[in-house]
Amino acid sequence: MAPGPQADRVEPDGGWCLGSSGAGPREKDITDHRLDGMVAVITGGASGIGAATVRRFVAEGARVVIADLQTAEGESLAAEDPERMAFVRTDVTSEADVEAAIASATQWFGRLDVMFNNAGIIGAVGPIGTLSLADYERTMAVLRSVVLGMKHAANVMIPQGSGVILSTSSVAAVSGGLGAHTYSAAKAAIIGLTQSVAAELWPHGIRVNAILPGKITTPMTVALRAGDGRPVEPDDTRDVLLGERKGHARDIAAAAAYLASDDGRFVAGESLRVDGGLTRAGGASPFATGSYREASMLGGRTKSR
Ligand SMILES: NC(=O)c1ccc[n+]([C@@H]2O[C@H](COP(=O)([O-])OP(=O)(O)OC[C@H]3O[C@@H](n4cnc5c(N)ncnc54)[C@H](O)[C@@H]3O)[C@@H](O)[C@H]2O)c1
Repeated sequence: MAPGPQADRVEPDGGWCLGSSGAGPREKDITDHRLDGMVAVITGGASGIGAATVRRFVAEGARVVIADLQTAEGESLAAEDPERMAFVRTDVTSEADVEAAIASATQWFGRLDVMFNNAGIIGAVGPIGTLSLADYERTMAVLRSVVLGMKHAANVMIPQGSGVILSTSSVAAVSGGLGAHTYSAAKAAIIGLTQSVAAELWPHGIRVNAILPGKITTPMTVALRAGDGRPVEPDDTRDVLLGERKGHARDIAAAAAYLASDDGRFVAGESLRVDGGLTRAGGASPFATGSYREASMLGGRTKSR
């Protein structure tokens, strides 16, 4: 759907949401407008992390192409501010679709400053001993979509001499037990790809980074928990996965806005964990809490009484 006349918009509780319907309590006013004049393509932009990022980017002054499979959700989001958001139905596993989504940005908004390769699925689940190769291929196609996003964004950004490419990896890439096997492998590959492409594109003025979300409450994870096909809202607050250290889609959107903006100008090849410390600071050490105090003072030996 091409951009249309502008409507003034507000936000629901995900924060930084534009749109006169669905207005809710304001969590934060965006005053910085760090993305003024920038144009972004956000894949998976119709839901969850992608939708929160679309709203955050627009609140910071960007215009955004929402590239997603979900037409109704994507069009509804774009209708929140038709002057600055446009939806393009996109299957990110199709090279023609990815190229067309990027072409939409340049045709409608005149340039491409940010490509956010965010669309993803959990894909194959279950023990390694029963892994279906068809499910494996379907899951790894999401990795291929990141390659496609980088390829076609680079072809626009290199002549421009500037740009930012972001991709959504996962904490499952860096820690066992946080995701399905193939999903974890695909997300780990995004880290390597990000570093490699960042090294190539830095001299062209293009920064390439990845974000590793922790446990974020979105339709993807709430559906996992519910497991009964019940429809869920993007800001559903029911527990997901292990129930601890849950973040919100807006936490990832904030990281994406930072990396996309000039504030992140010296960051490249990075894989930024946004997980509430889940994988780096998972729990207070007993040495810090005092449980091991006496033993530590004796170099690890238990104090004799
Ligand atoms: N939610 C979490 O806890 C979490 C944690 C780590 C990483 N991630 C990653 O964050 C990204 C966003 O996930 P989310 O939690 O917002 O889930 P979500 O299901 O709310 O959103 C994913 C979006 O991607 C779209 N999509 C899926 N396959 C597509 C395809 N082939 N072409 C175009 N669009 C497609 C879906 O239609 C959906 O709108 C994913 O890459 C996911 O793996 C999520």
